[in-house]
Amino acid sequence: MAVIVHIDKQSFKKFQQEILDIELSSFITPWRLPQFIDELSNPYSHIWGLVENDALIGYICFWIIGDEIHILNLAIRPDMRGKGMAKLLLKKLIEMAKEKDISNIWLEVRISNNRAISLYKSIGFEKVGIRKGYYSDTHEDAIIMALNLKK
Ligand SMILES: CC(C)(COP(=O)(O)OP(=O)(O)OC[C@H]1O[C@@H](n2cnc3c(N)ncnc32)[C@H](O)[C@@H]1OP(=O)(O)O)[C@@H](O)C(=O)NCCC(=O)NCCS
Repeated sequence: MAVIVHIDKQSFKKFQQEILDIELSSFITPWRLPQFIDELSNPYSHIWGLVENDALIGYICFWIIGDEIHILNLAIRPDMRGKGMAKLLLKKLIEMAKEKDISNIWLEVRISNNRAISLYKSIGFEKVGIRKGYYSDTHEDAIIMALNLKK
């Protein structure tokens, strides 16, 4: 069974290669090591990993600032996609957010990323805006999505 683990500076070393491999297979402009190091040093930032049999299935990186959460990164290993793993991570995030009395969870997603958009919609996120040309690599627009937990 997959379990969620909090990845800190220490445990990151163990999962580093798996994380960087999943990044490479998931994004046009993957995060490199320095971006992860920055997040691990940022007191607002949290990384959770989804682990099964000691192997990393995926991860989510988010900031908690005041009563808001911002999701920065979410990826599932390609061979484990379509099995509800991202939904599991997001549901745990929402559970934790409710316990902490968080008002909103925010994220940006590429307008072409239909898979991720339907994932977020399936758990209640709504489109709340567009950032024109947000992604510097393809100049693609970002859809801003939010889940209002106080509705
Ligand atoms: C987007 C991503 C995180 C989804 O992870 P996943 O574990 O495959 O998603 P899940 O299996 O939890 O799917 C949950 C929901 O997402 C949607 N979804 C998943 N795969 C889909 C597909 N191939 N086509 C359309 N919708 C899909 C569905 O709404 C699904 O709900 P359902 O199973 O009840 O129909 C994964 O594809 C990934 O890592 N992609 C590359 C990185 C990325 O794009 N990250 C998001 C950046 S914003």
